[in-house]
Amino acid sequence: MFKKSISINLFFFLASFVFAQNTVTLNLNQGSDTISKHIYGHFAEHLGRCIYGGFYVGEGSKIPNINGVRKDVVEALRKLKIPNLRWPGGCFADTYHWKDGVGEKKSRPSMLNVWWGNTREDNSFGTNEFLNMCELLNTEPYLSGNVGSGAPSELSDWVKYTTHPNGSSPMPDMREKNGRATPWKVKFWGIGNEAWGCGGNMTAEYYTNIYKQFATYMTSWSNNEGIFRIASGASDDDYNWTETLMKNIPKNMLSAVALHHYSVIDWNKKGASTEFDEETYFKTMQKALLMEEYVTKHSAIMDKYDPQKKVALVVDEWGGWYDVEPGTNGAFLYQQNTMRDAMIAGTTLNTFNNHCDRVKMANLAQAINVLQSVILTRDEKIILTPTYHVMEMYNVHQDAQKIPLIVCSNDYIVGSEKLKAVSASASKDKNGFVHISLVNIDAKNSQTVSMMIKGNTFKSVSGRILTSEKLQNYNSFENPNKLTPTLFTNAKLSNENLSAIIPPFSVVVLELK
Ligand code: AHR
Repeated sequence: MFKKSISINLFFFLASFVFAQNTVTLNLNQGSDTISKHIYGHFAEHLGRCIYGGFYVGEGSKIPNINGVRKDVVEALRKLKIPNLRWPGGCFADTYHWKDGVGEKKSRPSMLNVWWGNTREDNSFGTNEFLNMCELLNTEPYLSGNVGSGAPSELSDWVKYTTHPNGSSPMPDMREKNGRATPWKVKFWGIGNEAWGCGGNMTAEYYTNIYKQFATYMTSWSNNEGIFRIASGASDDDYNWTETLMKNIPKNMLSAVALHHYSVIDWNKKGASTEFDEETYFKTMQKALLMEEYVTKHSAIMDKYDPQKKVALVVDEWGGWYDVEPGTNGAFLYQQNTMRDAMIAGTTLNTFNNHCDRVKMANLAQAINVLQSVILTRDEKIILTPTYHVMEMYNVHQDAQKIPLIVCSNDYIVGSEKLKAVSASASKDKNGFVHISLVNIDAKNSQTVSMMIKGNTFKSVSGRILTSEKLQNYNSFENPNKLTPTLFTNAKLSNENLSAIIPPFSVVVLELK
């Protein structure tokens, strides 16, 4: 009987290679890399309604808040377990002078937010507000320094203001006067942003020298060895940028090199966030799946100069980018979020998980009300987007041990073009439980996935799924819970064979216990 069931299982598994074609092979006894929780990071820029109205409504607001930070946002982001939050930009960071945003609020000068609609920035949300908010969210701050229009002394002072221990020296004294005696913990520092563009239109060679100058004065005092310095990185396939930085910056000055990639079909014709046809969806996914190629190729360059993988690749801006919602300010980058975005999130996070030996950190752009957000707000209302739900389902991978896998997928075909329908990643958490995340991007066809789990001793499988009847569906303020994860019951485990039927455009996370 026992022998018979083994041979039947084997038959079905082998048959799946011949007929069904989606196979995933995992070896539970392999794998030494950890999926850093920081891959699941977020980004908050002074842009549109991300900070004001999104995170921060001020102490006097009718909207329930803690020191001006929305309570509903705190609750949602804590549940998401956000590991880090990048601030204050983006392009805004290279125009920001942090000293304008500390001290008595009424004495803080205003500035013009030139990148994002020339709005008046009153600096009421500054360094103290941000770092205290990070403590509230139980997340690590990632401060992006002003290199484009700032001076090395400004960044050096910012490091001292935020992290230098008490003592009578100007920056800690100023911090204490502003109500905070003990330093915050700030490990992650960006030295500029998009230095090839809004961060100063520099060449890679020029930026390399500027980087070294800024990096030197950030750490020219004791007690801050823990600082993690992130160089402004390439956009998409600008491999020369990564090569120049890796070749010319001494490794003891460089913790990480960044990379930005947005899934945008055409910068001049981005298309609407909720109204799109299958062809447009396919094009978006073509762009999103390029992340795999970019990460692989930038990593290969880094391997040449850093074979021990001491320098991290930090994808500190990623996500879908569409036209703004009709009737909203074009500079505020406010867009809705559909199952298409869930597909971008699921496949991109699988890529990061699978490349966790080099990708140690990433930041979705952006957390609230801007681009591919996890939260949208309208006055006192809040929506958790499909992207939020994917990130919540995937947070089981945070700091878990990656399980290497081989995916063999059906094609998802539209017209004469094709993409791989199935993407996957897997990990083992600190309790020894295994999680497998699967995405089927095919807009029309379910995918049967046959998994060979080598070394399996688990007896039970459970799962959650995010899907919907239409790819274009989204959570609205009128119907905020249209899309939420539900139980997934279409997986069967038998010895080393696990099979699952994944509906079109859905994300599934399985747990083996
Ligand atoms: O996320 C929006 C903008 O996109 C950022 O400010 C910039 O870094 C990028 O070009």
